[in-house]
Amino acid sequence: MTTITNSKQWHDLQAHQKQIAKLRMQDLFDENPSRFSQFSQQLENILFDYSKNLITSETIALLCDFAKKNNLNSKIEALFRGDAINITENRPALHTALRNPASTLTVNNKNIMTDIHSSLNKMFEFSDKVRTKVWLGATGKPITDIVNIGIGGSHLGPLLTTHALKDFSLTDLRCHFVSNIDLVHLHDVLEKINAETTLFIISSKSFSTIETLTNANTIKEWLQNQLGNASFATHFVAVTAAPKKALAFGIPEAQIFPLWEWVGGRYSIWSAVALPLILYIGKDNFLDFLKGANAIDVHFQQAEFSKNIPVLMALIGIWYVNFFDVTKHVILPYAHTLNYFPLYVQQADMESNGKSISLTGETVDYATGPAVWGEQGCNGQHAFFQSLHQGYTFIPADFILVADQHSAHQNILVGSGLSQAQALMQGKSFTKIVNELITSGSSEADAKKLALHKVIPGNRPSNTLFLQSMTPYNLGALIALYEHKIFVQSVLWNINSFDQWGVELGKELLPVILSHLQNDTSTTLDSSTQGLINFYKSHG
Ligand code: F6P
Repeated sequence: MTTITNSKQWHDLQAHQKQIAKLRMQDLFDENPSRFSQFSQQLENILFDYSKNLITSETIALLCDFAKKNNLNSKIEALFRGDAINITENRPALHTALRNPASTLTVNNKNIMTDIHSSLNKMFEFSDKVRTKVWLGATGKPITDIVNIGIGGSHLGPLLTTHALKDFSLTDLRCHFVSNIDLVHLHDVLEKINAETTLFIISSKSFSTIETLTNANTIKEWLQNQLGNASFATHFVAVTAAPKKALAFGIPEAQIFPLWEWVGGRYSIWSAVALPLILYIGKDNFLDFLKGANAIDVHFQQAEFSKNIPVLMALIGIWYVNFFDVTKHVILPYAHTLNYFPLYVQQADMESNGKSISLTGETVDYATGPAVWGEQGCNGQHAFFQSLHQGYTFIPADFILVADQHSAHQNILVGSGLSQAQALMQGKSFTKIVNELITSGSSEADAKKLALHKVIPGNRPSNTLFLQSMTPYNLGALIALYEHKIFVQSVLWNINSFDQWGVELGKELLPVILSHLQNDTSTTLDSSTQGLINFYKSHG
């Protein structure tokens, strides 16, 4: 048993769970008219309502105690100070520095803020040139389209943010994304653009990701076939922590935007990885985006745990994962602007906390990061909500609502989110359904038979994050909330959020498979993989 599962705080939470599991949330609301004000909190433009959870004030007190006893405070300080908390790669995780307005932050005797600010200025100057049509393509035409070539953290951040902040675009530049290695994806993009007026951004922290580099090479060839070899230099820029590799690829030094080893890929939207966004929304809007995230950083460092939104989000998640054996978490943005948010959080959360080895190298004896997925509302309602309401186990949900423009459409959208959260909590009883069926003409026997299938258990928990409006500031804040939630969970699970060794094995095995696909059979494969390769080779 680890010290975590063997601690007094853990045992207290286990005992408390036995009492709570018997309670009905609806009763808790009926008994306490101030439950909403007790379990909700507004921070600037975001309201966080966590009252529809299987919690009482004792639950929160016990969870906060658990966090304190596990030194969460000192771990938060270590994160912001730039300690090498990514112990397997001996690096800090300093994404918070990228949105810190301070002029000094010394890490390993170096003031990293100087590099951060000069990188920002380089991006602002470059994007101004593109937007004002000073930057021209090889044939002298201004840029009309941007293509981001990147995957994972070098894709999802720009995808999410450019889509979410469409209304803040200062330009008619069109943004496209090539992430997958599948040529279908590449062709889909290439057929929409004109080589003469397109700027390609190769975004890769390592500049060695096979999907990104293969796509970049194919596009380079496509461009040079149309515009000649010399065209390359004006149509390609790179964002990377490996500038030598970008230089070797042929990108001029002045067109390489730096990243640093201490920025994790899935935490990199605050860095040069945001170049498509900056091209799109400009300097002031981007600075607002950083400010929103920084406001959450300040709150996260200063607020006591019982009033600290990311800490509460994390603790409530742990409550379900570790004390109710829940293995999933669903993200439900009721806003088309946040269409890509579930995907974004999925990578941030699962690549960070999908770990089962503790910081001291033992296999943990408790559950860690849940499977995270989601879909924008109302679409999700017509896909998987059936399972949220009547599935075998409950799945905690985060509803994310946006309060701007009170149009008829928006009322239905927000109303749907609210009614789904309510339905998950309230459920519908057998007696009520029988009565309704009888009132609408069924016999009592038929009503009782059908009602068995129509019972909705309810008591299914959710958080609601309500944004006053979709702005760069609020989006920055929303993303930072989830980043810190994930960090807090990693601290309390005693795992390293900032490495991703699990992703490496597949990358290591790929070359062997590729050699088999090219008829090199010098190595032996398992019969399943071999059988599948045989099928592939005999078709196509
Ligand atoms: O999928 C693993 C991963 O390493 C992610 O963490 C990262 O965001 C992505 O690949 C892309 O990596 P890079 O930016 O180095 O191309």
